[in-house]
Order: sequence, then C-alpha cells, then structure tokens
Amino acid sequence: MMIIVFLIRTTIKEGYIMPKLNENYLNLKESYLFSEIAHRVNKYIADNPDKKVIRLGIGDVTLPIGSTVIEQLHEGVDALASAETFKGYGPDHGYAFLRDAIVDYYRQNNVSIAADEVFVSDGAKSDTGNITDLFDQDNIILIPDPVYPVYVDTNIMNGRNITYINADETNHFLPMPDHSIHADIIYICSPNNPTGAAYNKEQLKEWVDYALENEALILFDAAYECFITDTSLPRSIFAIEGSRKCAIEFCSLSKTAGFTGTRCGYTIVPKDLKFTSSTGVEMSLNAMWSRRQSTKFNGVSYIVQKGAAAVFSEKGMAQCRENIKYYQENAKIIADGLTQKGIHCFGGVNSPYIWFKCPNDMDSWDFFDELLTKAQVVGTPGAGFGKNGQKFFRLTSFGNRENTIEAMARITKLL
Ligand code: MLT
Repeated sequence: MMIIVFLIRTTIKEGYIMPKLNENYLNLKESYLFSEIAHRVNKYIADNPDKKVIRLGIGDVTLPIGSTVIEQLHEGVDALASAETFKGYGPDHGYAFLRDAIVDYYRQNNVSIAADEVFVSDGAKSDTGNITDLFDQDNIILIPDPVYPVYVDTNIMNGRNITYINADETNHFLPMPDHSIHADIIYICSPNNPTGAAYNKEQLKEWVDYALENEALILFDAAYECFITDTSLPRSIFAIEGSRKCAIEFCSLSKTAGFTGTRCGYTIVPKDLKFTSSTGVEMSLNAMWSRRQSTKFNGVSYIVQKGAAAVFSEKGMAQCRENIKYYQENAKIIADGLTQKGIHCFGGVNSPYIWFKCPNDMDSWDFFDELLTKAQVVGTPGAGFGKNGQKFFRLTSFGNRENTIEAMARITKLL
C-alpha cells in the first residue's frame, strides 16, 4: 500500500492530480427518464413480489417480429456459418441492399432520396444524440417542451444552451415558428413523442420556410411515421418542398418492425445540406456525418441488416402493418377508457402514445406513484419530457391486449 501511494505521488506533478471531467454532466438530472422509471418500478416489485405490475411506460413493443423478417435474420446467421458467405466488417454506412430498400420505401411515399444519403445505424436514439458532434457550441438550439428527453440531455452534455418552445393545449401541442427570433438548430418530432400530435404539410412547410430564412437546420425525428393513419399528413420532412436544403431526418425500425431489442435505424442527410465555415470553406453535412460515423461507429451487424431489409419487402411490411394495427387498437382501448372517465386525451390516432392531463390537477410523478402503488400500472410522467409535461401523463399502446384491457380496468376503477 505504502509503495503504491509513493509511486502515485512521484508520478503526478503538482497541480495535475486528476482528469478534468465534462462538468456539463452536473447539469443533468441524476438519471435518464426511463432508467429512473425502471428503478422505481423494480424497487416496487422487489417490495411487493405478490403484485402483478403492468408496464405501459416506455414505448417498448411486445409482439414478436414478423416471420418474413425472422426468416431473413436466420439467413443472415447461416451466411456466417460458411466461408463462402461469411461477412466481417460491413460497408461503413450500411449494405447496399438495405440502403436501396430504404430509398425504395421513400419512393413509395413519393419522396426522392439517394442511397448515399442514407446512413444505417443502431437507431434514432443514438443518431439524434450523436448528431450534436457536428455542431459548434455557439448555436441557438430550439427544442419543443415537452419532448423526447434525448434531444435535451445530449445538448446539456455538450454544454449548449437550449431555447424551449412551448407545446401545449393552446397550440394543440404543435408549436409553430416565431419569426421574431432566430434559431440555428431546430428539433422536430412528428408524430410527436410524447404528445402524439402530428404536423400537417402546411405546418411543416412553415417550419421549412423559417429554417431557410434563418439558414437554420431542422433535425426531424420520424421514428413514429408508420403510425400515421391520416393519409394527408406527411411521413417525412422530405415530403416538404425546400427541406433538402435545411433538414436531416432520423428514423427507426424499433416501432415500425418491433426492433427495440434488435436495433436498426437510419438517418438521411441530403447532399444539398451545405453551410459555410467561419473561414469561408463550404462544409457538407453529408460528408461530415459520413466522416463521423466511419470514425466512431462500426455499423449494424449483417444479420440485423438482412432482417431490416426484409421489413421493406411487400410481405415484411404487410406483417409490420398487422402489428401496428394491433397497437392502434390498444391505443383506442386506452383512449376510450380515459374518455369514459371524462379525461380528455391527445394522440393515440397517428401515434402509439396517449397523452392526457393528470386527474385532480395532480403532479405527474405523484400520479405515477399513485398508479403504481394503487393500480400496479406503470406509465410515464409528463414531467420527464419537460416543464410543460408537469401535469400530464403518457400511456403507451405497445403492451399486449390482455394487459392493456386489464390496465385500463384498473385505471378506470381508480379514477
Ligand atoms: C419512449 O418510450 O419514449 C421510447 O421508447 C424511447 C425510445 O425510443 O428511446
């Protein structure tokens, strides 16, 4: 022991006794929203092992992945078993068969993108967080409140200031640009997590026009596009004229195809996205993201990409749609139950999430505790998504049918 202390003392120069940490982490809440919920629920279960807890909190799917995708996942595994078909490192940004399938999926929705604008990844969560690598500290960042906490937390980790825009009942949870203020980077999630609200084409056009006017960039999270039932609503920011010059889109197969555990998503960075550096050099966001990903990320496994490509086949997509329909029916069960109790809810139509005001003006964490301890149902407190969520609550439709019905019976009994 004495020897170790002596060695440490002699190898450290005075004044340089420890690594300097990223102190921006001190500005974060102690744990990530869904980790905090898991922690509270696990404690409750440990203390009450006889109770059956139903989880309608985190948006985690429960139905199995469709057979067409499963077959391709198996084929991917088999390919690794023989020298002739074995795969090691894959192409930096995804296999051509998957990038082409994604391009084709967009084409079916009348949106034109190129394969080298598609970057395959392990999901929208990582990409919406990692994209912050491309930006200087000195940006005005606009984030709606409430919102998916990853946008906020990752900017705090980088020490960036955030300007919040209110999403509340007065604007139907769809904030519009304030032309009197300037922003450099704007986060939009539509259909929205957590409120379930979805922008129409005219509203998104206004955001695109605002971004173009301000030479700003929209970071558009389309992770829930497959839940859009109203065919007049845009499923991609690239359905909006002018967006190729001002938007990046993130999407994920987590909810579309049940890939929450399998992990696969993609980010679309148009080649038209070019901005000028402080020294007058033209910088391409597509080239920067390519550089960032090939340096820090080794891609998604061949097996998973084989399965992911099958999602976009006719049969694969039909099976995904069946699962989505099932979750949409769950959403209706939840919304009907709440409505019967006189609770007005939002979302659940073009989105898997139902968003509503906590009864009796309760604070959302108090309502969370009440639901957990009195009805053994887990939801997500709105406060976790921002200050405007303080009195709101989110339930997910991703549970199984039996549990959803049971949870609603318990909730409506309690209300
Ligand atoms: C949610 O419940 O908000 C989502 O499942 C979280 C995620 O997709 O990371």
